[in-house]
Amino acid sequence: MTVVEPFGLSVRDQALEADVQAGLAAVEEGLLEATKSDVPFITEAAQHLVRAGGKRFRPLLVMLGAQFGDPYAPGVVPSAVVVELTHLATLYHDDVMDEADMRRGVPSANANWDNSVAVLTGDFLFARASHTLADLGPEAVRIQAQAFERLVTGQILETAGPAESQDPVDHYLDVIAGKTGSLIAVAGRFGAMMSGADERTVSVLTQYGERLGIAFQLADDVLDIASDEQESGKTPGTDLREGIPTLPVLYVRARAAGPDATAADRETAALLDGDLSDDARLADALAALRAHPALEQARRSTVRYADEAREMLAPLPDNAAKAALSGLCTAVVERAG
Ligand code: IPE
Ligand code: IPE
Ligand code: MG
Ligand code: MG
Repeated sequence: MTVVEPFGLSVRDQALEADVQAGLAAVEEGLLEATKSDVPFITEAAQHLVRAGGKRFRPLLVMLGAQFGDPYAPGVVPSAVVVELTHLATLYHDDVMDEADMRRGVPSANANWDNSVAVLTGDFLFARASHTLADLGPEAVRIQAQAFERLVTGQILETAGPAESQDPVDHYLDVIAGKTGSLIAVAGRFGAMMSGADERTVSVLTQYGERLGIAFQLADDVLDIASDEQESGKTPGTDLREGIPTLPVLYVRARAAGPDATAADRETAALLDGDLSDDARLADALAALRAHPALEQARRSTVRYADEAREMLAPLPDNAAKAALSGLCTAVVERAG
């Protein structure tokens, strides 16, 4: 059995830890099974990122959500496989759109093969996710379809940019709630729902997942600037190079346009607005952002959303799973640390 190190999970309760570990190991088996094709090349391409690792953050959330009902109920593990497969498929596609060359510490599928292979492998993974999802019933299919629509809408809105009348920070928050919050909300929801937890618990875990998902993406966007390749398994500065303004960039721009703008604000904003397809200019922009207070400001926003997620857990009974879900909020923030 594969032993997976659960993301940021410091569980003091041994029974919970054993449950989560066993669940995640079953998810690993499910992922390898679901990514097997009769065509060896498809198996290779589909398992490329499965085997490279990843945090399995969403399956972990399913397992913790399932603690509020019967964690061994038959739908729990397959629903975690569905969520991770869907996530994985979006990564194959996202790396094509972002022209990213590295993912989970290995060459992205588009870099390793080409865009066509990456797009089609993503489609293959969606097909396999749907196959498993079908067995979980029409309500699960509907939930997943709605979340997927929100995810794709988020990605499209990111590409389109804000409308002229829209505040760029509001637009950004809408984008990340859609592209990331939606699927992480499904992870919490499926865990509770598949375990047979009551409606109120399902609703709490859905809302908690959405909020946590926003914090998770905020942290990821800080990491794109602040971390190195070893830490994130991705190439730093990818968002900047692609011209995707994340929260730290939006904060710099807001400061530079404000009445109290400093020379550093204006210089950093000018660097960010330049051509960042040039490696040297990208390195300068990254260095300027790392030294700019806007990065800390974005970290504080991450903490705020994670705190809000934690507060949403209040109606749940006090047990080890609730403590672990609360710990997950801390772990997400510490990543951006
Ligand atoms: C990456 O997700 C895409 C985002 C939503 C930020 P993860 O950070 O969960 O990626 P893996 O699964 O650990 O590789
Ligand atoms: C993409 O966000 C989120 C989805 C895959 C839906 P990012 O573009 O920030 O994700 P990374 O940084 O490439 O993992
Ligand atoms: Mg990306
Ligand atoms: Mg990112």
